[in-house]
Amino acid sequence: MEPSQARAILLSQHDRLRRLLTQIQVIADRVLEGEGVVAELHEQLEELRAAFAEHNASEETLLEPILRLDFAWGPPRIQRMLEEHAAEHAMFRETLAGPDLEVAERMGDVIEEIDAHMAAEERTFLSPSVLRDDILNVEEGS
Ligand SMILES: [Fe+2]
Ligand SMILES: [Fe+2]
Repeated sequence: MEPSQARAILLSQHDRLRRLLTQIQVIADRVLEGEGVVAELHEQLEELRAAFAEHNASEETLLEPILRLDFAWGPPRIQRMLEEHAAEHAMFRETLAGPDLEVAERMGDVIEEIDAHMAAEERTFLSPSVLRDDILNVEEGS
């Protein structure tokens, strides 16, 4: 897969996650104020957990081979970055797990952290200058 294609997939998953997070914040607030429907919160949280798991799996699978081609970074640095990145994903998975009402209570913090994670990705390894299609040509020496 071309780096630009991988980038487009991952960025569209980010958009979907942002939309889901915004919706969930509204539902979580309503439920916490005693006005919302708990079943709806549950459904949305399940969708978020699934979307987040899917995105993290795509990111961990798609990025590694692409970043390895960018020899300017060097394998140890890439390895370290990917490990730190996967550790953050695992932390988010834990934060999103647990009883729905508890997750609803920490939703504000969760959203802030996930938002910061995605924004950092978009500034670094999802930026067009990192995921550029000519990495492949440079690697092939053409
Ligand atoms: Fe990530
Ligand atoms: Fe991401």
